[in-house]
Amino acid sequence: MPKILVELKTGTRSKTPVCPIHVVNPKTLKSFLNQLTPAQKNWIKVKSFTGKPGEIALVQNDGGALDCVLFGISNSKTDISCLDLAVGKIATLVPQGIYRFASGITDESQAGLAWVLSSYEFKRYSGEPKKWPKLAVGKSVDREEIQLISQGVNLARDLINTPANDMGPQQLEAAIRKVAKTFKAKLSVVRGDNLLTKNFPMVHAVGRASNRPPRLIDMKWGKSNAPKITLIGKGVCFDTGGLNIKPGNSMALMKKDMGGAANTLGLAFMIMAAKLPVRLRLIIPAVENNISANAFRPGDVLASRKGLSVEIGNTDAEGRLVLADALALADEEKPDLLIDMATLTGAARVALGPDLAPFYCDDEELVTQISKAARKTCDPVWPMPFWNRYDEWLNSQIADVNHISTGGFAGSITAALFLRRFVEHAKNYVHFDIYGWAPDPLPGVPKGGAAQGIRALFAVIKNRYNKT
Ligand code: BES
Ligand code: MN
Ligand code: ZN
Repeated sequence: MPKILVELKTGTRSKTPVCPIHVVNPKTLKSFLNQLTPAQKNWIKVKSFTGKPGEIALVQNDGGALDCVLFGISNSKTDISCLDLAVGKIATLVPQGIYRFASGITDESQAGLAWVLSSYEFKRYSGEPKKWPKLAVGKSVDREEIQLISQGVNLARDLINTPANDMGPQQLEAAIRKVAKTFKAKLSVVRGDNLLTKNFPMVHAVGRASNRPPRLIDMKWGKSNAPKITLIGKGVCFDTGGLNIKPGNSMALMKKDMGGAANTLGLAFMIMAAKLPVRLRLIIPAVENNISANAFRPGDVLASRKGLSVEIGNTDAEGRLVLADALALADEEKPDLLIDMATLTGAARVALGPDLAPFYCDDEELVTQISKAARKTCDPVWPMPFWNRYDEWLNSQIADVNHISTGGFAGSITAALFLRRFVEHAKNYVHFDIYGWAPDPLPGVPKGGAAQGIRALFAVIKNRYNKT
């Protein structure tokens, strides 16, 4: 990945000119205009640039070359919808070159992060990769940290954007293997019918109808005596719904159903690249929920790794099944922190929409840490309750548990409660029901496959475990 952030050299004459960016709002624009030449002022009027949020003006000098950039942002201090990455949009609007923020921003690190997060396009199948404009930043900005965060984020985006024909269970395994190799992590994989002998019956049941064998991917990194952090990601490479087949419009985007796997791998990348003093484990059940004569059916009762019998209410609620076996495995070694991420329910999207990922956690202190980090990193997530009373909605007449409730109420909560039944020993458990996709571009979030919550979680994990 080419470096987008460069060091701002002061005092010396550098070979390439650095173009200043002035961030304004309609109020500060008025006084700023005094710094411009009469010709430039006139031109800004002609362009009817008023400094409203998102507006940009490329100001020329006498020779017609780019002199400076003006960009409008909101001056609201009460907006909590994480618009602080707003300046990232500049990176998508200016020509190639080197820029610097000259006035109007309060946090240069944040501005640098916004710039880098916005500089992304998925170009695997068409066109040339874009040469992004560079940003020069002062020494106080930790460019390496921003670089590793954006690498993790872009890894997640790339994997989600890759269509299912090129991102099956095998290719997902290969992507994880590549990261494991980079950081010398240990990888073990259980594939196909071996899932039965190694006791992952639900991963097998969900994945067996596909001609691309299901697998349980298990990566370990770090010193064995360090705090144990385990990440689990839903790796459903395509979700047809199974025999409870999805209608066409609901199936259209289901290449993104491995968004949890992509996001947890992106987070694992950050943790390992930053060499955090933790024992990291990443567990990905990778399957394709497909249709065939040997597909699992509604009404089937499955065995599970934990020993609970699970009645199948709907084969389209497949994610929680493969996660349950992965959670049971993770829970066996009593991790300090167990986090799963999954594109688990349509109900989560109905509740909070695509910008904001709901998360579940029974530990109030950890909930506060995550919420605060989300705000600080402009990576919005929102707490939801493991509402105990609804747990009984998962009771089955013939098995230990049903994986869905029938009423249709609180679909994201009942999915979370099902998962929690498979976690007993972990000190802390957090579940994220993410959307994994940006239907429209947002500041720092290009349209398409989306990283959600992993920058916030990276900050939380750093704070909790990086103390010396
Ligand atoms: N992968 C879907 C959930 C999903 C759908 C996430 C659309 C984001 C956007 C999941 O496997 C699923 O199909 N869930 C069902 C569960 C239902 C059958 C209980 C759902 O939410 O409709
Ligand atoms: Mn499904
Ligand atoms: Zn799914």
